[in-house]
Amino acid sequence: MIVSPSILSCDFGNVERDTKMLHNSEADWLHIDVMDGVFVPNISFGFPILKSVNKYTNKVLDVHLMIANPDQYIKEFVDAGADIITVHYETCPHLHRSIQLIKSFGIKAGVALNPHTPVQALEDVINDLDLVLIMSVNPGFGGQKFIPSSVSKVKKMKSLIAAHKSSALIEVDGGVNLETGAELSAAGADALVAGSYVFKSENPTSTISNLKKL
Ligand code: DX5
Ligand code: ZN
Repeated sequence: MIVSPSILSCDFGNVERDTKMLHNSEADWLHIDVMDGVFVPNISFGFPILKSVNKYTNKVLDVHLMIANPDQYIKEFVDAGADIITVHYETCPHLHRSIQLIKSFGIKAGVALNPHTPVQALEDVINDLDLVLIMSVNPGFGGQKFIPSSVSKVKKMKSLIAAHKSSALIEVDGGVNLETGAELSAAGADALVAGSYVFKSENPTSTISNLKKL
């Protein structure tokens, strides 16, 4: 399992310490949640935090943009250190163009789906994608309750990817813990994001190791 801890739940007074902890853990990617207070009802952080995370690790920076008009900022996120950029289907009227823009910088492109958006929405771009991000909570906040129907959504996405012989990975984000993670793994998830479950645990490094084993 690819594990991508979300720095949204880290201590922002100790970004260096928490990034180094993740760097020295079995985490594969670091998940970076950018929120603009327009697409989602919360504001998180932007370029300065991404740049400081990038200073303390060379792990893959998995940037999840919960912002309106993402195309406008792709280059700046690439310059700040993004290795994967995921935009929301719901924010991109010209989704194919947004995906090509991300890929034009030589990095990986993902698309996220809100809980109400059907997997079929990605059918015509599935062969252009490196990653599909299934939201298992409504985007905007860490620490929310997992939406159980996300498990069958992962299975549907797995079938769609197989039917089109796409190489896109399935990542799941929101309410992931060892229990929901095991269900998602059985359903075909390739990558799991975990924020509060990692950072609120007594030993984040061993929590990450346990998620890796799923
Ligand atoms: C929610 C974010 C998530 C969040 C997950 O909008 O996209 O990545 O950090 O937090 P947990 O794991 O606490 O649900
Ligand atoms: Zn996220």
